[in-house]
Amino acid sequence: MELIKQGAEAKLWKDGELLIKDRIKKNYRIDEIDSKLRKTRTRKEAKLLEKSHNLINVPKLHNVDEKSMTLTMEFVHGELVKNVFDELNERVRMNLCADMGKQIAELHNNNIIHGDLTTSNMILNKDKLFLFDFGLGFESLRIEDKAVDLHLLKQAFESKHYLHSEKAFDNVLRGYSAKGDKNVIERLKKVEGRGRYK
Ligand SMILES: Nc1ncnc2c1ncn2[C@@H]1O[C@H](COP(=O)(O)OP(=O)(O)OP(=O)(O)O)[C@@H](O)[C@H]1O
Ligand SMILES: [Mg+2]
Repeated sequence: MELIKQGAEAKLWKDGELLIKDRIKKNYRIDEIDSKLRKTRTRKEAKLLEKSHNLINVPKLHNVDEKSMTLTMEFVHGELVKNVFDELNERVRMNLCADMGKQIAELHNNNIIHGDLTTSNMILNKDKLFLFDFGLGFESLRIEDKAVDLHLLKQAFESKHYLHSEKAFDNVLRGYSAKGDKNVIERLKKVEGRGRYK
Protein backbone atom coordinates (compact mmCIF):
# COMPACT_ATOMS: atom_id res chain seq x y z
CA MET A 1 0.00 0.00 0.00
CA GLU A 2 1.18 3.44 -0.90
CA LEU A 3 0.24 6.61 0.96
CA ILE A 4 -0.80 9.04 -1.75
CA LYS A 5 -2.08 11.88 0.33
CA GLN A 6 -2.42 13.06 3.86
CA GLY A 7 -5.49 15.27 3.53
CA ALA A 8 -7.04 17.62 6.03
CA GLU A 9 -9.30 14.90 7.42
CA ALA A 10 -8.00 11.66 6.06
CA LYS A 11 -5.12 9.54 4.88
CA LEU A 12 -5.53 8.25 1.34
CA TRP A 13 -3.86 4.98 0.37
CA LYS A 14 -3.56 3.31 -3.00
CA ASP A 15 -3.75 -0.46 -2.96
CA GLY A 16 -3.69 -1.72 -6.51
CA GLU A 17 -6.85 -0.48 -8.15
CA LEU A 18 -8.35 0.48 -4.81
CA LEU A 19 -8.29 3.73 -2.90
CA ILE A 20 -8.57 3.57 0.87
CA LYS A 21 -9.75 6.69 2.68
CA ASP A 22 -8.92 6.48 6.33
CA ARG A 23 -10.36 9.25 8.50
CA ILE A 24 -7.72 10.12 11.03
CA LYS A 25 -8.11 11.05 14.65
CA LYS A 26 -7.89 14.75 15.32
CA ASN A 27 -6.11 15.34 18.59
CA TYR A 28 -7.53 18.79 19.14
CA ARG A 29 -11.03 17.33 19.30
CA ILE A 30 -12.41 15.68 22.39
CA ASP A 31 -12.19 11.89 21.84
CA GLU A 32 -15.89 11.20 21.98
CA ILE A 33 -16.82 14.05 19.63
CA ASP A 34 -13.98 13.15 17.29
CA SER A 35 -15.03 9.55 16.88
CA LYS A 36 -18.69 10.50 16.41
CA LEU A 37 -17.77 13.05 13.75
CA ARG A 38 -15.52 10.64 11.87
CA LYS A 39 -18.16 7.95 12.01
CA THR A 40 -20.92 10.26 10.71
CA ARG A 41 -18.75 11.59 7.91
CA THR A 42 -17.63 8.13 6.86
CA ARG A 43 -21.20 6.85 6.87
CA LYS A 44 -22.52 9.90 5.06
CA GLU A 45 -19.81 9.82 2.43
CA ALA A 46 -20.49 6.13 1.79
CA LYS A 47 -24.21 6.71 1.42
CA LEU A 48 -23.78 9.65 -0.94
CA LEU A 49 -21.18 7.81 -3.03
CA GLU A 50 -23.57 4.91 -3.48
CA LYS A 51 -26.51 7.11 -4.39
CA SER A 52 -24.45 9.24 -6.75
CA HIS A 53 -22.97 6.25 -8.51
CA ASN A 54 -26.29 5.64 -10.23
CA LEU A 55 -26.41 9.24 -11.45
CA ILE A 56 -22.96 10.54 -12.37
CA ASN A 57 -19.26 9.52 -12.48
CA VAL A 58 -18.02 8.87 -8.96
CA PRO A 59 -15.60 6.22 -7.69
CA LYS A 60 -17.37 2.93 -7.07
CA LEU A 61 -17.62 2.13 -3.38
CA HIS A 62 -16.29 -1.29 -2.42
CA ASN A 63 -16.45 -1.34 1.34
CA VAL A 64 -17.28 0.70 4.45
CA ASP A 65 -15.69 -0.19 7.75
CA GLU A 66 -17.40 1.80 10.45
CA LYS A 67 -15.12 0.44 13.13
CA SER A 68 -11.92 1.74 11.58
CA MET A 69 -13.85 4.52 9.79
CA THR A 70 -12.41 3.52 6.49
CA LEU A 71 -13.87 3.64 2.99
CA THR A 72 -12.56 1.45 0.23
CA MET A 73 -13.39 2.60 -3.27
CA GLU A 74 -12.27 2.42 -6.87
CA PHE A 75 -9.00 4.24 -7.57
CA VAL A 76 -9.75 6.71 -10.36
CA HIS A 77 -6.78 7.23 -12.67
CA GLY A 78 -6.14 10.57 -14.27
CA GLU A 79 -5.30 14.11 -13.29
CA LEU A 80 -6.67 16.22 -10.50
CA VAL A 81 -8.70 18.88 -12.34
CA LYS A 82 -7.04 21.55 -10.20
CA ASN A 83 -3.64 20.66 -11.66
CA VAL A 84 -4.63 20.72 -15.32
CA PHE A 85 -7.53 23.19 -15.48
CA ASP A 86 -5.53 26.29 -16.43
CA GLU A 87 -3.47 24.48 -19.06
CA LEU A 88 -6.35 22.87 -20.92
CA ASN A 89 -7.26 24.02 -24.38
CA GLU A 90 -9.98 26.68 -24.06
CA ARG A 91 -12.65 24.66 -25.83
CA VAL A 92 -11.83 21.54 -23.83
CA ARG A 93 -11.99 23.53 -20.59
CA MET A 94 -15.38 25.01 -21.50
CA ASN A 95 -16.78 21.58 -22.34
CA LEU A 96 -15.40 20.23 -19.10
CA CYS A 97 -17.15 23.04 -17.22
CA ALA A 98 -20.44 22.32 -18.96
CA ASP A 99 -20.04 18.68 -17.99
CA MET A 100 -19.41 19.74 -14.38
CA GLY A 101 -22.63 21.74 -14.52
CA LYS A 102 -24.57 18.78 -15.88
CA GLN A 103 -23.25 16.39 -13.25
CA ILE A 104 -23.95 18.84 -10.44
CA ALA A 105 -27.48 19.35 -11.78
CA GLU A 106 -27.99 15.60 -11.84
CA LEU A 107 -26.96 15.41 -8.17
CA HIS A 108 -29.20 18.34 -7.26
CA ASN A 109 -32.15 16.88 -9.17
CA ASN A 110 -31.81 13.97 -6.78
CA ASN A 111 -31.44 16.26 -3.77
CA ILE A 112 -27.77 15.49 -3.22
CA ILE A 113 -25.63 18.46 -2.19
CA HIS A 114 -21.91 17.84 -2.66
CA GLY A 115 -20.84 20.37 -0.06
CA ASP A 116 -17.26 20.86 -1.23
CA LEU A 117 -17.24 21.53 -4.97
CA THR A 118 -13.71 22.50 -5.92
CA THR A 119 -11.35 21.39 -8.67
CA SER A 120 -9.40 19.51 -5.95
CA ASN A 121 -12.33 17.15 -5.58
CA MET A 122 -12.52 16.23 -9.28
CA ILE A 123 -10.43 13.95 -11.46
CA LEU A 124 -10.21 14.04 -15.23
CA ASN A 125 -9.83 10.52 -16.54
CA LYS A 126 -9.07 10.91 -20.24
CA ASP A 127 -12.11 13.00 -21.13
CA LYS A 128 -14.31 11.66 -18.36
CA LEU A 129 -14.90 13.85 -15.32
CA PHE A 130 -15.25 12.21 -11.88
CA LEU A 131 -16.50 13.94 -8.73
CA PHE A 132 -15.51 12.65 -5.31
CA ASP A 133 -15.00 13.65 -1.65
CA PHE A 134 -18.60 13.72 -0.42
CA GLY A 135 -17.48 14.01 3.21
CA LEU A 136 -19.23 17.38 3.59
CA GLY A 137 -22.21 16.40 1.49
CA PHE A 138 -25.81 16.04 2.57
CA GLU A 139 -29.29 15.50 1.23
CA SER A 140 -31.61 18.45 0.83
CA LEU A 141 -34.55 19.57 -1.28
CA ARG A 142 -33.84 23.22 -0.63
CA ILE A 143 -33.10 25.51 -3.59
CA GLU A 144 -30.95 27.59 -1.26
CA ASP A 145 -28.65 24.64 -0.47
CA LYS A 146 -28.25 23.90 -4.17
CA ALA A 147 -27.49 27.54 -4.98
CA VAL A 148 -24.88 27.70 -2.22
CA ASP A 149 -23.30 24.48 -3.53
CA LEU A 150 -22.82 26.19 -6.93
CA HIS A 151 -21.63 29.37 -5.29
CA LEU A 152 -18.83 27.48 -3.55
CA LEU A 153 -17.62 26.22 -6.92
CA LYS A 154 -17.65 29.76 -8.26
CA GLN A 155 -15.55 30.89 -5.32
CA ALA A 156 -13.15 28.01 -5.84
CA PHE A 157 -12.71 29.07 -9.49
CA GLU A 158 -12.11 32.65 -8.43
CA SER A 159 -9.43 31.71 -5.94
CA LYS A 160 -7.68 28.89 -7.84
CA HIS A 161 -8.31 29.67 -11.50
CA TYR A 162 -8.93 33.42 -11.56
CA LEU A 163 -7.76 33.85 -15.16
CA HIS A 164 -10.57 31.66 -16.44
CA SER A 165 -13.10 31.84 -13.65
CA GLU A 166 -15.77 33.97 -15.28
CA LYS A 167 -16.04 32.14 -18.55
CA ALA A 168 -15.59 28.81 -16.83
CA PHE A 169 -18.43 29.40 -14.42
CA ASP A 170 -20.70 30.67 -17.23
CA ASN A 171 -20.16 27.29 -18.83
CA VAL A 172 -20.93 25.46 -15.59
CA LEU A 173 -24.24 27.30 -15.55
CA ARG A 174 -24.82 26.50 -19.21
CA GLY A 175 -24.46 22.80 -18.40
CA TYR A 176 -26.52 23.14 -15.25
CA SER A 177 -29.39 24.86 -17.09
CA ALA A 178 -29.55 22.08 -19.63
CA LYS A 179 -30.40 19.51 -16.96
CA GLY A 180 -31.26 21.30 -13.75
CA ASP A 181 -33.72 23.58 -12.07
CA LYS A 182 -33.61 27.19 -13.34
CA ASN A 183 -34.83 28.38 -9.94
CA VAL A 184 -31.48 27.35 -8.48
CA ILE A 185 -29.67 29.66 -10.89
CA GLU A 186 -32.08 32.47 -10.03
CA ARG A 187 -31.37 31.89 -6.35
CA LEU A 188 -27.64 31.86 -7.01
CA LYS A 189 -27.86 35.49 -8.12
CA LYS A 190 -29.42 36.37 -4.76
CA VAL A 191 -26.77 34.39 -2.88
CA GLU A 192 -24.09 36.31 -4.76
CA GLY A 193 -25.77 39.63 -4.07
CA ARG A 194 -25.84 38.85 -0.37
CA GLY A 195 -22.13 38.00 -0.38
CA ARG A 196 -21.24 41.27 -2.02
CA TYR A 197 -23.29 43.66 0.07
CA LYS A 198 -23.30 42.09 3.51
N1 LIG B 1 -11.12 7.49 -5.63
C1 LIG B 1 -9.97 8.13 -5.81
N2 LIG B 1 -9.16 7.80 -6.83
C2 LIG B 1 -7.96 8.43 -7.00
N3 LIG B 1 -7.52 9.41 -6.20
C3 LIG B 1 -8.29 9.80 -5.17
C4 LIG B 1 -9.55 9.19 -4.92
N4 LIG B 1 -10.10 9.75 -3.82
C5 LIG B 1 -9.21 10.67 -3.41
N5 LIG B 1 -8.12 10.72 -4.20
C6 LIG B 1 -6.94 11.60 -4.06
O1 LIG B 1 -6.77 11.94 -2.68
C7 LIG B 1 -6.92 13.34 -2.47
C8 LIG B 1 -7.70 13.64 -1.19
O2 LIG B 1 -8.96 12.96 -1.22
P1 LIG B 1 -10.27 13.61 -0.58
O3 LIG B 1 -10.50 14.92 -1.22
O4 LIG B 1 -11.34 12.61 -0.66
O5 LIG B 1 -9.85 13.76 0.95
P2 LIG B 1 -9.75 15.05 1.88
O6 LIG B 1 -9.53 14.59 3.26
O7 LIG B 1 -10.87 15.96 1.61
O8 LIG B 1 -8.45 15.71 1.41
P3 LIG B 1 -8.25 17.23 1.04
O9 LIG B 1 -8.25 17.96 2.33
O10 LIG B 1 -6.94 17.23 0.32
O11 LIG B 1 -9.42 17.61 0.16
C9 LIG B 1 -7.63 13.84 -3.72
O12 LIG B 1 -7.34 15.18 -3.98
C10 LIG B 1 -7.11 12.90 -4.79
O13 LIG B 1 -5.84 13.33 -5.24
MG1 LIG C 1 -10.92 16.84 -0.85
